[in-house]
Amino acid sequence: MKAYNLDHVGIAVRDLDAALAGYRTRYGIEVLHREVVTDQGVEEAMLALGGSYVQLITPVGPEGPVARFLDKRGEGLHHVAFAVLDLEVALAHLKTEGSRLIDREPRRGGRGTRIAFVHPSDLSGTLIELVEHATS
Ligand code: CO
Repeated sequence: MKAYNLDHVGIAVRDLDAALAGYRTRYGIEVLHREVVTDQGVEEAMLALGGSYVQLITPVGPEGPVARFLDKRGEGLHHVAFAVLDLEVALAHLKTEGSRLIDREPRRGGRGTRIAFVHPSDLSGTLIELVEHATS
């Protein structure tokens, strides 16, 4: 298993429209895609930057991991996402490594992706997301 791209950095925000306006006016980064991902209880916005994305995420309700994150830690860097070619292969490899997985099976991400999260306590205190893009 080899991660092949820094797919995105996920940043938790309270006000998605305000954050998008700030990224546009300060850094000239435009939003490419917005989507409510029901499975994760978030609305996400993807901002294209070179071969990677900035992903802004905001909770759609008072419950859920991102809402809890904002309550505890406030706005800021939430996770780092690596692209992998085959998510099943990647998860099987991490199981053999004894990694602490949040998702033992792939789940649905935005834009037709499949994703899985690895617990921050597994490595370097960082929540890692693995992303497999839909083959078109
Ligand atoms: Co993400």
